[in-house]
Amino acid sequence: MTTQKTPKARYHEAAPTDIDVDNFRKVIESRRSVRKFTATPIPEDVLDACLDLALLAPNSSNLQPWTFYVIKNPTKKEQLVKACLNQLAAKTASELIVCVARTDRIDEMAKRNITQFPFPEVPKVVKKYYTFIPYNYKTGYFNTLGHFKKVAFGLARRLDKQLPVTAFQPSDAVLWATKTTALACENLVLALRAYGFDSCMMEGFDEPMVRDILNLNDQQHVVMVIGAGERAKDGVFFPQYRFDRKLFIEKV
Ligand SMILES: Cc1cc2nc3c(=O)[nH]c(=O)nc-3n(C[C@H](O)[C@H](O)[C@H](O)COP(=O)(O)O)c2cc1C
Repeated sequence: MTTQKTPKARYHEAAPTDIDVDNFRKVIESRRSVRKFTATPIPEDVLDACLDLALLAPNSSNLQPWTFYVIKNPTKKEQLVKACLNQLAAKTASELIVCVARTDRIDEMAKRNITQFPFPEVPKVVKKYYTFIPYNYKTGYFNTLGHFKKVAFGLARRLDKQLPVTAFQPSDAVLWATKTTALACENLVLALRAYGFDSCMMEGFDEPMVRDILNLNDQQHVVMVIGAGERAKDGVFFPQYRFDRKLFIEKV
C-alpha cells in the first residue's frame, strides 16, 4: 500500500478588487511639496496611522532597515529647524520626522524574520535564507567580507552564475538601506495626503548637525527630514510640472 503525502498547503491572499482608483490618483496627484503649513496640529492617531502605513512599504528582504524619529522635544525641534537651514517648510511644520536608514540592525532583523515568521512552523528555506542573507548586505570589519565577496562574485560570474545585488563596500550597504527607507518615506507622505495633511521631503539639511541632535551612530544614515502639517493656503509656491514622459519611459 502506498501512503499518500499530504500536499503542502499553499498560502493564498486574495487582492481586494474594490479599490477606488480615482481616489488613489487623487492622493498621488494632490501631493505637493508644501513649504508653508498652518498652526493646526496633526492628531496623534492620524500621524501614528500614517507612520504605520510607512512601515508597510516594500523593503529589501523584509529587513526593515529604518527608523523614523518623530521629533517631540521642543529644544530638539528648534535645533532641527536650524539644521534644516531654517527652511519655511521646517519652521512652520507641526511635525518634523527624521527618516534614518540603518545598516546596524541587519543581524537583529534577520533573526526577527525567523522568530516572528507568521507560520506556526518556520519553513527550513526561510531559516536558511535569513541565516545567510545578512552576509549579502554586510561588509565586515575593514571591509574584509566586502573584499571577499568582490573576488568570489567575480569568479562566479566567469562561470556564468547570476548573482544578486550585494554590498562590496560600506557605501553599497548604505545605498541598500537608503533605497528601501526612501520607499517608506513615500508611503508616509502619501498616507498624510490621504488623511488630508501635507508634507515636504527635505534633504536641505546639515547632516552632521542632524546626526548630533539625534546622537546617531555611524551606521545610521539620515535619508531625509519630512516636514508635515496642514497645508497653508499659500503653502504651494507653483503648479506641479514634469518633463515629457518620453524622456523617462523606455519600452524596450
Ligand atoms: C529627496 C528629496 C529632497 C528634497 N529636499 C527638499 C528641500 O530640502 N527643500 C524643499 O523645499 N523641497 C525639497 N524637496 C522637494 C522637491 O523640490 C520637490 O519634490 C520637487 O520640486 C517636485 O515638486 P512636487 O513635490 O511638489 O511635485 C525634496 C524632494 C525630495 C524627493
